[in-house]
Amino acid sequence: MNRLVIDAINKLESFMKTVDDATALPREAAEFVHALILAAPIRRAVEIGTSYGYSGLWIASALATRSGRLITIDHLQRKSDAARASFQAADLLEYVDLRIGTASEILRSINGPLDFVLNDADKDNCITYVDIVAPKLVDGGIILTDNTTTHARELAGFIDYMRRRHDFFTAILPVGNGMALSIKHARP
Ligand SMILES: C[S@@+](CC[C@H](N)C(=O)[O-])C[C@H]1O[C@@H](n2cnc3c(N)ncnc32)[C@H](O)[C@@H]1O
Repeated sequence: MNRLVIDAINKLESFMKTVDDATALPREAAEFVHALILAAPIRRAVEIGTSYGYSGLWIASALATRSGRLITIDHLQRKSDAARASFQAADLLEYVDLRIGTASEILRSINGPLDFVLNDADKDNCITYVDIVAPKLVDGGIILTDNTTTHARELAGFIDYMRRRHDFFTAILPVGNGMALSIKHARP
């Protein structure tokens, strides 16, 4: 990870302490996502929930090692603009496509194939988001859903749903805020 990226991450961590609307992956979860992308053959990634671009910096810096690309979605122009500035400072903008709008609408407009989706926006729509992206995901593709510990009640139905699907295997990871790691696979 180069100095520009590390500096942008550190600067954003400091900034996020000064605002009350910066809900981001905890650093250990962001490090896990970065490592996962380095380890798996992921090039085409989507993030639902850009916010200030914290997780996006970790994702895009891993994708940059193999010229991958991140499409990141948020409905708030203000946050997306701030995220763009961080990607620019980290010299990662060429690997990132920031889309502003309602996640379900933007997800429908994205063409597959996709290798990776970080599902980190509104918890009420997680099932909808999976239904939209699942057909676009390659076999072996990953949907990582944040907040399975911090929002256990809200996500209980989602986890049940993922476990009932025969085309995904879902493991719950006690990393950061808790994450559901769902791997798409061919039907047996
Ligand atoms: C938890 S934050 C994302 C944090 C980010 N992934 C990180 O770790 O740095 C969730 C974001 O989702 C956005 N969001 C919530 N509902 C949305 C929707 N229906 N469509 C698009 N964006 C949405 C919010 O504006 C917020 O910035």
